[in-house]
Amino acid sequence: MAVLPIVEVPDPRLRLVSKPVAAITDETRSLVADMIDTMYDAHGIGLAAIQVGIDQRILVIDLQEDEDEEGKPIRKPHAYINPEILSLSDELSTYNEGCLSIPEQYAEVKRPARCRVKWQDETGAAHEQDLDGLLATCMQHEIDHLNGVLFIDHISRLKREMLMKKLNKARRAD
Ligand code: NI
Repeated sequence: MAVLPIVEVPDPRLRLVSKPVAAITDETRSLVADMIDTMYDAHGIGLAAIQVGIDQRILVIDLQEDEDEEGKPIRKPHAYINPEILSLSDELSTYNEGCLSIPEQYAEVKRPARCRVKWQDETGAAHEQDLDGLLATCMQHEIDHLNGVLFIDHISRLKREMLMKKLNKARRAD
């Protein structure tokens, strides 16, 4: 297991459409383990393979919403391989989204509040589930990555330009 470097904007790899995983192998499982390590190391709740430079349709998500007695988040990572959105609710919800590829920048994004999704896990087993709340938002954000879409594509051009200016300023200050 290893923490991998995270690809950040404006790296053109973030605009690639990732390829379906044809066969789920030990190599896939090893990548999933590295992606989980990378997500926790960066204090993220979701990560797409392209964010570590690999254009395969693989996501890992762990909202880490529950805490143990010491107040530490309980880790329950999940891998979603070849995830597909089957349906989206008409009802929308707004969440202040961030992205490990656009560090320390946040913006309110409106998306369908619920979605039905199918995917394979790291054993190859197929799953289908209705998602709501933060998981529905996070899943849509991560599936966007597999299609070369970033959360800043969902906000106005003015807000996007302001956000990128802030990011570049923060980078210069580092
Ligand atoms: Ni992201």
